Amino acid sequence: MNPVAATNWPELWPATSSQSRMDFFDVATTMPTMRRFSDRAIDPRTIERILETANMAPSGSNAQPWEFVIVRDQAARGEIQKLYELAWVPYKDSATLSPRAQKALRVGDEFSASLAIVPVHVVVFLDRPKMRVVRGSPEDLTNFGATYGSVFPAIELMMLAARALGVGTAMTTMLSPHEVETKALLGVPGLYQLIALIPMGYPAEGFKRPFRKPVWPRVHDGHWSRAWPRRP
Ligand SMILES: Cc1cc2nc3c(=O)[nH]c(=O)nc-3n(C[C@H](O)[C@H](O)[C@H](O)COP(=O)(O)O)c2cc1C
Repeated sequence: MNPVAATNWPELWPATSSQSRMDFFDVATTMPTMRRFSDRAIDPRTIERILETANMAPSGSNAQPWEFVIVRDQAARGEIQKLYELAWVPYKDSATLSPRAQKALRVGDEFSASLAIVPVHVVVFLDRPKMRVVRGSPEDLTNFGATYGSVFPAIELMMLAARALGVGTAMTTMLSPHEVETKALLGVPGLYQLIALIPMGYPAEGFKRPFRKPVWPRVHDGHWSRAWPRRP
């Protein structure tokens, strides 16, 4: 049997009617940060497909240093919400913001207060020893691209896979100040570093195209001083 065909989608993951195929560009451009969720549960098979896809991400030296704790237990999600709120309140109070950002803060308040109803919390950890750089060391500061860049592609891929299956996600790093408590709650051993919490669930209101500034003023053609020559 062809080993590639044996291990690769779609052979392993035939699409079902509830998991219809989406065009990649539709997926990538309609993946806003989801902060309003329904409480509809996510089928374990869907969760597995999302994680299998995340696992295909690149990483420095192919270290694959990610670990995912999938939290479905209601009480544990409630504890995570409490930790998130502990960090969220001082964060939002410290911010001086534009009207657009103030609106986002109101949605953030709602999100923080309703986190426990989001059916799946994916808590992502980095296996530090696999990175061969001691956390907090001078090399850690200069090597951050390789270190953190070895885990965020997996997170993004997880979010894209979720979106392709109709599941909304939010990238959040707000739990980081409460890493010790989060690890104690989830029984995570010492050498793993908390990277992100990705709440995951079906959206309350669907997916919209998120706002972004045009990319072209930030694209340079071979030299910083030359703008990319856009075709009319
Ligand atoms: C590294 C990173 C950390 C983030 N942390 C949080 C967070 O803790 N809480 C939150 O509500 N959103 C968080 N976000 C989401 C951003 O606010 C969001 O990506 C940005 O506002 C764009 O949102 P949009 O895609 O819905 O337009 C984070 C995003 C990134 C990339």
